Amino acid sequence: TKTNEISLLNNTYAKDDYTNVTDKLVSYLGRNIFLKPHHPLSLVRQRIINFFYKSFVNRRGNPIFSIYENLPPIVDIDQNFDSLLIPEDHPSRTKSDCYYINRKYLLRAHMTAHQSELMQAGLNNFLMIGDVYRRDEIDRTHYPVFHQLDAVRLRTKEQIFLKDEALNIFEEGNNTAFTSAQEKQACHSLEAVKLMEFELKDTLVGLAKYLFGNNVEYRWVDTYFPFTQPSWELEVLYENNWLELLGCGIMRQPILSNAGINDKIGWAFGLGLERIAMCLYKIPDIRLFWSNDSGFLNQFKVNDINATISYKPISQYPQCTNDISFWLPKDREFSSNDFYDLVRSIGGDLIEQVSLIDNFIHPKTGKTSHCYRITYRHMEKTLTQSEVNVVHKNIEKSVEELGVTIR
Ligand code: PHE
Repeated sequence: TKTNEISLLNNTYAKDDYTNVTDKLVSYLGRNIFLKPHHPLSLVRQRIINFFYKSFVNRRGNPIFSIYENLPPIVDIDQNFDSLLIPEDHPSRTKSDCYYINRKYLLRAHMTAHQSELMQAGLNNFLMIGDVYRRDEIDRTHYPVFHQLDAVRLRTKEQIFLKDEALNIFEEGNNTAFTSAQEKQACHSLEAVKLMEFELKDTLVGLAKYLFGNNVEYRWVDTYFPFTQPSWELEVLYENNWLELLGCGIMRQPILSNAGINDKIGWAFGLGLERIAMCLYKIPDIRLFWSNDSGFLNQFKVNDINATISYKPISQYPQCTNDISFWLPKDREFSSNDFYDLVRSIGGDLIEQVSLIDNFIHPKTGKTSHCYRITYRHMEKTLTQSEVNVVHKNIEKSVEELGVTIR
């Protein structure tokens, strides 16, 4: 391929000023660890699918949710943002938050990107599972690739109100406006929204209990998503901390009408598989999901996917830390995520954490200085200081690409 082109999953894309996918990241495309039998992400995936299969059946007793887990991770701006009514100036669209292939295409930042196309295909009840990509900080719970499961359920008036013909899903009201209390979209009837809210919350509390046990403590928190209104987060109490399990809500009606659906109301939710697997199986570091080490993988080779598994660390190897300080460029933009990607590209999975420990503006020159602490730890062996020094030197050399000056 030419240097102004990039080849991904059998397609070629022209690079432009938005291109920021790294070679390191491209190497994750198509690995599909969430589909590998016995992989912990696969166990969680299958358990959630089973919950939906058992909870929603038709008159003949057959499951009604269809499962999509091979949707290609390269999507366009319309799928990831526009079709979901995400405003033009929303921060989630920025180059510093997403992996763009070019101005038109990006690696999907959430599975919600596929909602519209599957509704247009005529589906009413579906799950979408796959790998998603976000630029973020580096620590034990963040990785630029992770996995999400999203769901959509659409209902007609007859389905939610049965034979009661006096009730309606819709009422007079602009379908882009919300009522003053922000309790619902103006175009929806309160009865329809309340019934949908009840089924959504009942389903998701059922799911939380199915995964974490009947005694799990949970709470609902009001939130905002551009594509649902009202919107909620479900949190569960895990080791004395409230853990955000999922986001959900009543789908914004223009998303349905733009997909050609005018007689239905829908609910949707999305959750991250890593976070659930880390809690359920006591997995201490998100990098482990990418390990090919049998000491890790064999611990999940169970016959029953519902078996209780508590991961035993193969061993904790010692950490090494090294700091790096530099002056930020004055003539171009710098975002910490640019630095995190560079560190990840060079250090790979040796990097456990990168944290900004000092941010200082020189009183005379007005220049900004950042100091980052890089924590190195190998998952499978002890690193020597000299091995770390080689990687650290490489980072120091390459960081000049970002226009910074090492102090
Ligand atoms: N896409 C949202 C996220 O990534 C989750 C979500 C999906 C919320 C569907 C509401 C409805 O956080």
